[in-house]
Amino acid sequence: MRVCAMNLRRVLVVALTAISLPIAAQHAPQRAAVASAHPLASAAGIETLAAGGNAFDAAIAVSAALSVVESFGSGIGGGAFFLLHRAEDDFQVMVDARELAPGAADRDMYLDAAGEPIPGASRDGALAAGIPGLPAGLAHLADRYGDVPLAVSLQPAIRYAREGFPAYADYLERLRRRAPVMNEVALEALTPGGQLPREGELVVQPDLAQTLEALARHGAAGFYTGVVADRLVAGVRAGGGIWTLEDLADYAVVERRPISGTYRGVEIVTVPPPSSGGVALVNMLNMLSGYELAALDSASRTHLLAEVMRRAYRDRAEFLGDPDFVDVPVERLTHPYYAAGQRTTLRMDRATPSEELPGIFADGSGGGDQTSHFSVLDQAGNAVAVTQSVNFSFGSGYMPAGTGVILNNEMDDFSIKPGVPNGYGLIGTTANAIAPHKRMLSSMTPTLLKSDRGMALLGTPGGSRIITMVLLASLAWIEGGDAQAMVGVPRVHHQYYPDVIEHEAAALDGTAISALQGLGHSLRRVGRDYGDMHVVTWDFASGEVDAASDPRGIGEPRFGGR
Ligand code: DON
Repeated sequence: MRVCAMNLRRVLVVALTAISLPIAAQHAPQRAAVASAHPLASAAGIETLAAGGNAFDAAIAVSAALSVVESFGSGIGGGAFFLLHRAEDDFQVMVDARELAPGAADRDMYLDAAGEPIPGASRDGALAAGIPGLPAGLAHLADRYGDVPLAVSLQPAIRYAREGFPAYADYLERLRRRAPVMNEVALEALTPGGQLPREGELVVQPDLAQTLEALARHGAAGFYTGVVADRLVAGVRAGGGIWTLEDLADYAVVERRPISGTYRGVEIVTVPPPSSGGVALVNMLNMLSGYELAALDSASRTHLLAEVMRRAYRDRAEFLGDPDFVDVPVERLTHPYYAAGQRTTLRMDRATPSEELPGIFADGSGGGDQTSHFSVLDQAGNAVAVTQSVNFSFGSGYMPAGTGVILNNEMDDFSIKPGVPNGYGLIGTTANAIAPHKRMLSSMTPTLLKSDRGMALLGTPGGSRIITMVLLASLAWIEGGDAQAMVGVPRVHHQYYPDVIEHEAAALDGTAISALQGLGHSLRRVGRDYGDMHVVTWDFASGEVDAASDPRGIGEPRFGGR
C-alpha cells in the first residue's frame, strides 16, 4: 500500500474507537456482498474484491462508480460519511468526508438586504456548492484501510466514465427536471447536442474520466491541487461562487468516534455529528425502549413512532451542528435517562402538538431519492456502510469547465436563517448557521447493527426522512426480519415541523388512519413511495450472508468471493 504524505497531513484524527461486543461463536461470512443503488456500482465492488481488495477498497470502487452512473445522487463533487468496521481488531470509525463552507462564506450570504432568503441562492449554481469531501474520503480509505491502490479501486469508475453507461429512465427524468438550472458546461456534457440521451444510449463522460484518473494517479492531491483544482476554482468563480485554491488545498477528512447505543440486546453503531442521524436514531430507540412496541396495533405503534420522531427532530433543530464549531450535547441526547425524561411528556392517548414542545417554528417538508447509500461486507468480516450525496438531483446543477464534476448544493443543508426551512423542510438555529470552513448538518445515517444473531448494514437517501427510514428498518431487523423485510417496510415519518405524519400508501389502512386522527394527528399520504435503502446482513451462527436493495429503486446486490 502506498502512503502519500500529503494525504496523511490532511487527516485530522479526532477520535478513534474500538468497541467490542461479547459475541457468540461467529462463522466467517460465506461470501462477500455489495448492495447499492445501481447494478454497475455493485459490480464495481465485486470486481475490486476479485482484484485483491478488501471491503474498504470495494467501498471506494462503489462510491466512485456511483459518481459516474448515478451522478444525480452523489459524486466526487459532493461528500459522504463512511462508517467502517474492521474485523481483525473490532475497530470502528466514521470517516467524515462531508463538504464544508468556503473560507469566504458568511452567515447571511443567502439573504438579501432586507434579511430575507434570496430564492434559489443556496440551491442552484456555483454559490450553492460546499467544498467537496468525497475525493479526500476515497484517498483516505485507500491510504489507511485499503489493500490495493486507488489505481485499482477506481478502475471500474474510470471505465464507466470513458466507455459509458446506458441511460436509464430515472436518470433521464432527473436530468430533464434539473436541466433548467444547469450551466452551459453541464448541459454540453450531459445533454450533447442539446438533446436528452435516449433510454439505453451510452452516457460517456471523458472529462470525468480524466478527473478520476488524476485522483487515481496522485491521490487527494490530484483533485485538491494542480490542474483539477485550478479548473474547479476558475469554474466556480466564473459562476459567481467564492471558492479559493486554499479552500481546496486545506480540505481534510476527520475520523470521528461512532455513536453507539443498545436496544433490546442489539448494539447500534452509527454516525455522530455533523450528522444528526446517529444522535436522533439512538435517542428514538432509547425512548422506544420503555414500551412493548411489538405488542401494539398498527395505529398505536405509528402514534408512538411519530411521537418519538417528533421529539428527536425537535432536538435536531435546536442542538445539532458541526461539532468542530458548536458544543453538541451528544452524551446527554443519547443517554437513556434523557429519553426517560422525554417519555414523561409522551401520552399514548393523544398526540402532542409540536407547538407544545419548546422550540422554533416553521413550515414545509420534503424528501427525495437523490443521495446514495451502499453497504459492503467482505469474507474477512470487514464491513462498510456509506451514505454519500450532492444533495438535490444533480446538486447545484453546476459543472466547472474541463472537470466533468457536478458540484453539490449542500450549502442548503445549513440553516440559512433561523426558522427558515431548507429544501427538506428542516429548520435550525445558530448551531447550524453558516460559518467559514464549517460542515453543514446532515441527516445521512449509515448504520451498523450487531447482536448475537449477527450484523446488519443499512442506510438510505431521502433528505430529512433518512433517519426515520433507518429507524424503521432497524426495528424490522431487531424484531427478527431479514434484509428483504428491512428494505420493504412501509414508511411513516414525522419531523416535528410540519406537524404531520407523512406515510406511504401501504403503511396505514383506513382504520389506522381514523384512529390516528382520533388521537389528534394530521396525516399526509406521500404522492410517491420514497427512499432507496441497501442492506447487507451476516448471520453469525451459519455464516450466511444476505443482501437486499430497495424495491422502490433499480439497485441490485451482488455477491462474490474474498
Ligand atoms: O446530508 C443530508 O442530509 C442531505 N444533503 C441528504 C440529501 C438527500 O438525501 C437527498 N435525497 N433525497
